[in-house]
Amino acid sequence: MIYFTLIFINLITGCSAAMNDTQLNQFEPVQEQSTPDEKYHTQQLIDLLKEKMEKDYANTLMKRGAHPKHHGCVKAEFIVEPDLPDKCRIGVFKNEQTFDAWIRFSNGAGAVQSDMKNDIRGAAIKLLNVDGKKILEDELHEKTQDFLFLSNPIFPIRNVADFHKLVDCTINHSFLWFFFNPFDSHLRELKLFWQAAKTHVNPLDIRYWSTTPYLFGTKAVKYSIIPTSDNMTQISLDSEDNILREIMQHQLKEQEATFDFMVQFQTDARQMPIEDASVEWDESVSPFQKVATIKIPPQQFDSDSQMEFCENLSFTPWHSLPEHRPLGNINRARKEIYRELSKFRHLKNNLPRKKPVNK
Ligand code: HEM
Repeated sequence: MIYFTLIFINLITGCSAAMNDTQLNQFEPVQEQSTPDEKYHTQQLIDLLKEKMEKDYANTLMKRGAHPKHHGCVKAEFIVEPDLPDKCRIGVFKNEQTFDAWIRFSNGAGAVQSDMKNDIRGAAIKLLNVDGKKILEDELHEKTQDFLFLSNPIFPIRNVADFHKLVDCTINHSFLWFFFNPFDSHLRELKLFWQAAKTHVNPLDIRYWSTTPYLFGTKAVKYSIIPTSDNMTQISLDSEDNILREIMQHQLKEQEATFDFMVQFQTDARQMPIEDASVEWDESVSPFQKVATIKIPPQQFDSDSQMEFCENLSFTPWHSLPEHRPLGNINRARKEIYRELSKFRHLKNNLPRKKPVNK
């Protein structure tokens, strides 16, 4: 009964009540359990994706190994909520302040394709001028904090071993073999992919989720950004292939777009696992709570130079303060994968890997 009362208080009063000591302390702390095969699968994935990128972009500019198509990079403000309780004042949320940011909106598919095809969309946020030592050993003094999101509450694959199998099947056999291999079928994952891939009409009007967990001080959280503009463009435009960019251009010509940045605390280690990215953390058990506002002011974002800048940016959840360290199997694999593949495409394109300092 006490448990349900606390959830009710949490629901109606948001972060401050939700973060009270009684509720947080009665649950298990963060649990991470790496497996001995992770490094092997991570390296295999890096090798497979490099091979695919070399083939796909043999005589042209090398794009990302995932999310190669962007709709644009927009300038944004990340405004930390005033009056957050102490439990929420962690890392970039410590002080009441506004960060300049870039946000790259993308399609998830491994190849550049029409926006009308079902897909999972991505949003990658890069906060600028973030003080404090970061996690990546070779980027300790960089000033950025990244948050990466997908248009789906979960990642359809639970761990790096299965993701390696999926990519291997896609490149060397067939995408479908991963799901229907009679000796090792993955019908649950097929259903999860089916549910996740959709058509979307406006990247500024999609709810996005981190899908994987992150440290939040000493607790674990997942993130979500929820669109809050009430003036969303829903018109149909002519050029279907790049309709999402066109909708964004249209939207941001005169109007701003906004999102609420939310955190969801892990309140039950068994129901809200750290190591399986394909399990949704039930919002009715632990509701998301607002900790910041994202404001995207009206702007033109599609000049040639800005599109080129967008192409050459690198996002990774490991561009992070230690307080927001990525957690779990898939996130651990992403540390080396994003670093290696970003370095690879910049090397192939003969371009330096630079971090932006200004909007
Ligand atoms: C083992 C699983 C995963 C692999 C192998 C993988 C691989 C990649 C790679 C290679 C890139 C391009 C990196 C670059 O060249 O800069 C990328 C980008 C991206 N990934 Fe993942 N990823 C995985 C899981 C995830 C998850 C769980 C999310 C959930 C948020 C995610 C969201 C994104 C987004 C939004 C981008 C685009 C970033 C940008 O705009 O530059 N990925 N991923």
